[in-house]
Amino acid sequence: MNRLVVISNRVASSNKPASGGLAIAMEELLQRRGGIWFGWSGDIVDSETPTSDRIHINQDNLIIRITIDLTQQQHDSYYRGFSNDVLWPVFHNRVDLAKFDNFSFEGYQFVNKMFALAIQKFLRKDDIVWIHDYHLIPLASELRELNCHQRIGFFLHTPLPPPIILETIPQHRALMDALAAYNLIGFQTIQDVDHFRSYLEKRKTTYFSNKASNECYSIELNYKDFPIGIDTENFIEFSSQNAATDACQEIKQEYSQRRLIIGVDRLDYSKGLIHRVQALKELFRIYPENRKSATLIQVGSPTRETNLAYINVREEFESLCGAINGDFGELDWVPIRYLHQTLSREKLAGFYRAASVGMVTPLRDGMNLVAKEYVAAQNKEDPGVLILSQFAGAAEQMKEALLINPYDIKSTANAIQLALKMSKRERIERHQSLLQVIVEKNVHWWSSEFLNALISGKQLVSNRENL
Ligand code: G6P
Repeated sequence: MNRLVVISNRVASSNKPASGGLAIAMEELLQRRGGIWFGWSGDIVDSETPTSDRIHINQDNLIIRITIDLTQQQHDSYYRGFSNDVLWPVFHNRVDLAKFDNFSFEGYQFVNKMFALAIQKFLRKDDIVWIHDYHLIPLASELRELNCHQRIGFFLHTPLPPPIILETIPQHRALMDALAAYNLIGFQTIQDVDHFRSYLEKRKTTYFSNKASNECYSIELNYKDFPIGIDTENFIEFSSQNAATDACQEIKQEYSQRRLIIGVDRLDYSKGLIHRVQALKELFRIYPENRKSATLIQVGSPTRETNLAYINVREEFESLCGAINGDFGELDWVPIRYLHQTLSREKLAGFYRAASVGMVTPLRDGMNLVAKEYVAAQNKEDPGVLILSQFAGAAEQMKEALLINPYDIKSTANAIQLALKMSKRERIERHQSLLQVIVEKNVHWWSSEFLNALISGKQLVSNRENL
């Protein structure tokens, strides 16, 4: 088996819970298969520090983690700038939040080049290289410049917007042209594939030419949807283990006689948190019987905390939660319990299991693995109900969830009411078919589909017939 080299901006460390779908999925893949995981260390160092002192190598079990520090300027332009202030908002349809400038694009290109120079030394001829997410789109083209001829794949964890939105990025041509250096490009959904195809049609090409220093090549682009999954078997198992069942019992006792609704998200504007609590407020207004009997437990993990858009969404969300708790709460009942922290996976599994309703209602999301984890954690004999945004990638696969438009506050409130009142029989039926999807299309299916396609080099088409 060829050695796998995974490259992503974030590298989870073995002793800290990973936040975000990418880190969780990569940890699970590499724990099983082994290989190298390369990316940013998460640290910022003085620009005087020599490059050799900025690279760190750690081996734990089968995973060799190689990380590199960034300077403040690299961090500000590559990570905070182009990745978080341009690509993230635009890819999530929030052009209004994007801050376009050339300085950050130059820093983005520079750090991609620096990553290529750093990892190239560790690569063997027959390694399979798998690059992840929007931070590193130009990385393969930088590696090709350094004469790396390995098979290199790319997977985008976020959505890809339609051309009219993608084209708002002033450097969209250079960005998309860099994809020509990959042997395979993976997207989360068929809709993303369609957006990519329309973009190519608008550019009137099915290939890009890429001029590297000593070779000029035009390749037919190979791309397809590969919806990411979770380690379902494993999650089911540890949802019924002690740490999770203790957390489940504890929370059930504390909220005895109350129905729990759970939401677990990074505190990101794409997650629809404000719309979600507005829907809850609407629920209490139009169905007052839920007052005192239903409570939302909302975990909002800290994320990108120095970015103004995140500071704003946090302020608005927290003040709305405060207002709802003030308006509707009673001495012995708080409508929303909000936890601004990252919980351990065991605790989360217990919380999911204790909750009658799981709310996954992003305004836009690549996939959203919380939807899958919520289903996996349920007790099969008495499962909860998943409310899922039609704008999450997961909605393409998880059709037996209660699908909602998160912008439609009243319909979302009605969906919560429906979920709270749903008969056990219907809950079991829906849960069974959702479980089937996440068992069949788990994270191992996802990574082997992608890696087999990358290794075989076969030209692919997207799975439209499954829609
Ligand atoms: C999303 C992205 C990941 C990212 C994660 C956490 O899941 O797809 O690439 O790592 O969010 O965001 P952060 O900016 O903290 O890495």
